[in-house]
Amino acid sequence: MKTQVAIIGAGPSGLLLGQLLHAAGIETLILERQTPDYVLGRIRAGVLEQGMVDLLRQAGVGQRMDAEGMIHKGFELVLDGRRQPIDLESLTDGKTVMIYGQTEVTRDLMAARQQSGAITLYEARNVQPHDLKGERPWLTFEHQGQPIRVECDYIAGCDGFHGVARQSIPAEALKIFERAYPFGWLGILAETPPVHDELVYARHPRGFALCSMRSPTRSRYYLQVPAEEPIEQWSDERFWSELKNRLPKDLAEQLVTGPSIEKSIAPLRSFVVEPMQYGRLFLLGDAAHIVPPTGAKGLNLAASDVSTLFNILLKVYREGRVDLLERYSAICLRRVWKAERFSWWMTSMLHQFPEADGFSQRIAESELEYFVNSEAGRKTIAENYVGLPYEAIE
Ligand code: APR
Ligand code: PHB
Repeated sequence: MKTQVAIIGAGPSGLLLGQLLHAAGIETLILERQTPDYVLGRIRAGVLEQGMVDLLRQAGVGQRMDAEGMIHKGFELVLDGRRQPIDLESLTDGKTVMIYGQTEVTRDLMAARQQSGAITLYEARNVQPHDLKGERPWLTFEHQGQPIRVECDYIAGCDGFHGVARQSIPAEALKIFERAYPFGWLGILAETPPVHDELVYARHPRGFALCSMRSPTRSRYYLQVPAEEPIEQWSDERFWSELKNRLPKDLAEQLVTGPSIEKSIAPLRSFVVEPMQYGRLFLLGDAAHIVPPTGAKGLNLAASDVSTLFNILLKVYREGRVDLLERYSAICLRRVWKAERFSWWMTSMLHQFPEADGFSQRIAESELEYFVNSEAGRKTIAENYVGLPYEAIE
């Protein structure tokens, strides 16, 4: 087999890159280890920055998002039981975010790819990239019991944190930056109306809590829990009662509870690999970086990597600008590190750290207190939350 760009992974990164390239007349082949149902079964984040919203529209997959997604003009921070609005729209000269679940983004992208006729091979086993530093890289894999070889111009590693792309780069060519946090997020999805019409991020002595949503009738809530917490210890009753403990009284009273339709615990981690490319292999999204979910940046960073690689490849194929290929990693990393910083900061300010001494606690409290009570501080939070600009590719 032959293609122009071989994409490993059919998560949001791989599918969005595939859609943009296909629409621009560049041939792609996507290889995905799992089945489509498995990919859609993963419940992930749901806050889209304007840059990602625009990119989805550009890829021709914005219709359902525009009809069903919810535009949020602000969110709330809760400190010491007091609700503090962050009015994104007025603090950023009119910018907002879109609430639309990653599962729905993925569903729309899958449908568009199927309609376009471009090929995605699901249940592709043992994908291996080869000859990455050569002119003509190739991949081997097994599909429906058959060994297959694909030759291509470029390989996009969109295969997430545990994928094969990053692992196929020699370890000595990569530098890894990492931070683990001593807690995780216990999340539940429930068919109940959200407690508030904006997202609520609450700092509380018992631990962080987040009230989010997927639609006017579907809520998503999270609680900070210790790392390695056994999920069996969390009945729905215990979850709702602990959430009420961590919310201000008025919100706790309004909270509508119900049976959970999904419940899971996710560890929190910061991770960046440098560089994000090796020869003709490029890393995008979770394959290259992980952020703790507190700033809602994971999916959005994947989108900005996709935008960068797409715009570079467009100029490579249309104008012969092969010089741009060398710049992919540096361009991505400038934005990645800013989002890493913001996600780390939001996480540090809002969570309880079991090891923290009294001094560190007070510093975190007063830092957040300062930020929310200062116009400059609120602007900084808002500017990062709606998403920093994408760098132009010239
Ligand atoms: N071969 C083929 N496919 C693979 C392989 C492999 N060896 N390893 C992993 N995959 C597939 C996974 O099954 C998954 O469908 O790659 C896909 C990667 O998808 P995600 O993990 O969702 O990563 P990405 O597309 O970069 O999405 C951005 O940012 O913070 C997050 O929640 C956010 O998941 C979202 C991500
Ligand atoms: C979510 O809705 O899943 C969500 C929202 C905001 C975050 C993290 C997760 O910061």
